Amino acid sequence: MCGIVGIVGQAPVAPLIVDALKRLEYRGYDSAGVATLDKGKLDRRRAEGKLVNLERRLGDDPLGGTIGIGHTRWATHGVPNEANAHPHFAEDVAVVHNGIIENFSELRDELKADGVVFSSQTDTEVVAHLVARELKNGASAQDAAFEALKRLRGAFALAIMFRGEEDLIVGARNGPPLAVGHGDGEMYLGSDAIALAPFTNAITYLEDGDWVAVRRGGMEIFDMAGQPVERARQQSVGTSLLVDKGNHRHFMEKEIHEQPEMISHTLAHYLDFAGGTVADFALPFDFAKIERLAISACGTAYLAGLIGKYWLERYARLPVDIDIASEFRYREMPLPDNSAALFISQSGETADTLASLRYCRGEGIPITAIVNVRESTIARESDGIFPTLAGPEIGVASTKAFTCQLSVLAALTLKAAKARGTISAEEEKALVRQLSEAPRYASQALKLSSGIEKVARELSHVRHVLYLGRDTNYPLALEGALKLKEISYIHAEGYAAGELKHGPIALIDEQMPVIVIAPHDRIFEKTVSNMQEVAARGGRIVLVTDEKGARNATLDTLETIVLPDVPEFVAPIVYALPIQMLAYHTAVIMGTDVDQPRNLAKSVTVE
Ligand code: G6P
Repeated sequence: MCGIVGIVGQAPVAPLIVDALKRLEYRGYDSAGVATLDKGKLDRRRAEGKLVNLERRLGDDPLGGTIGIGHTRWATHGVPNEANAHPHFAEDVAVVHNGIIENFSELRDELKADGVVFSSQTDTEVVAHLVARELKNGASAQDAAFEALKRLRGAFALAIMFRGEEDLIVGARNGPPLAVGHGDGEMYLGSDAIALAPFTNAITYLEDGDWVAVRRGGMEIFDMAGQPVERARQQSVGTSLLVDKGNHRHFMEKEIHEQPEMISHTLAHYLDFAGGTVADFALPFDFAKIERLAISACGTAYLAGLIGKYWLERYARLPVDIDIASEFRYREMPLPDNSAALFISQSGETADTLASLRYCRGEGIPITAIVNVRESTIARESDGIFPTLAGPEIGVASTKAFTCQLSVLAALTLKAAKARGTISAEEEKALVRQLSEAPRYASQALKLSSGIEKVARELSHVRHVLYLGRDTNYPLALEGALKLKEISYIHAEGYAAGELKHGPIALIDEQMPVIVIAPHDRIFEKTVSNMQEVAARGGRIVLVTDEKGARNATLDTLETIVLPDVPEFVAPIVYALPIQMLAYHTAVIMGTDVDQPRNLAKSVTVE
């Protein structure tokens, strides 16, 4: 989604803003722009496509000035062309915006009736004109921004700059995140702490309904009644981490390879390996006393939650309702008193997940979240958080966040099972030991690349792929299909293997590769029967299994990817890796933009 940067600085800011925008590229965007104020002149450069186009534009025609705002745009209203790129201008006002102004057409009609001529198709431009109108009516810059903000409905993070005000940027937040960075004689605004990492790690996060006047000497935050409010200054952890690709071609490749280490860090946070027990971490509810857990998330995080449901129900006998957050938020699910909610989100900013959280808040049940970004809104609004220790995830397609979410869910399963008395101390010890081996198995899985590349070459020639799995391999089949379509643009579908006969079998012919995820577990034989049905219809099978499975699946495959024999409980964590690698290698062969696939955003802050 869109990224925002603002700097009130000492040195020329345009190159610094571009540098900060590069750190927001991971969020997904399709055009970009910068505006500065230089000796009373408000000017901008904008370009369609990647930041390199904007840099070229700035190289040909530089912008001076020590105050400026910048933006990466993920198109919502209006195609991604230069005219729709931010910053948007209206007379003395420049605006960048992340989100959707829901009442923009009503405001645009009102402004048009006042004689305003619009130069873009965006919802954002109304904000610039509203502020400009207030200025013309004699308001100060700060008051003009405040008056305009009062007219807006919807989701927004905004940065506003004014000709004649060389020491002021106004920021505002209602929904999408916005952070203020504190420097020495310089101040910053950014969509997240990663954007501001080169400048400062002293960060203040705005809360919904806050707006801020940022000047070189400091900042003042106000609420929508115009009253000053205090928000804490924090040291951002994200800033201490170097966000680069290392020796890897893509962030996604790097993040896939980081998994053994990140899974290990995450598990170590929740388990006492030496004692063979789940660690003594705090919960805002008692697993022994709740009767239902409602899990809600989006995308890959939702699929992690789906695996969590299998685990929590099987090992802890705890009934789990799991929903896609965009459905949950509107379906008015009854939540009895003895239930609790768990939200899963890498970014901690996904609009639908946040809205679901707020629904549960309204219902008065305890709220917990598995998040990767600890300073995020979802983390701050939860009663208890379970951080994943995955480090910053930059590739749009989630990889290490997923396996770390699974690691937390596995630990929570043990915590719940222990509290509910459904596992003995010996069983707990055995499961903790199994989990402690997960990083080693994951390292072994990373060595499988040659067989996976061979399959990827096959996939790069096809239009459709089917993924099948049973039990926890069913969510993995969904995740495999999601990863493949996200980054290679090949149409892929994941199905519960048992559902094959109820529809997807009609699709099978010699052109259709079918990827079957089937470790040799309790229901391996059932999945083999489904593979026979595929083979009988000429379907080409790629079997992802273990050594025992490979020996027992006596049928011809296009390729069999053989993982180490791993205990059933940890299998989803390990089997996620070949699934990710398959999508990654297919996308690389096809030459797509692996880290920033078309139309996708990393942090989805609008619904
Ligand atoms: C986007 C990303 C996915 C992610 C989903 C949920 O669609 O591209 O990778 O799984 O959002 O994001 P969250 O930050 O809530 O985990």
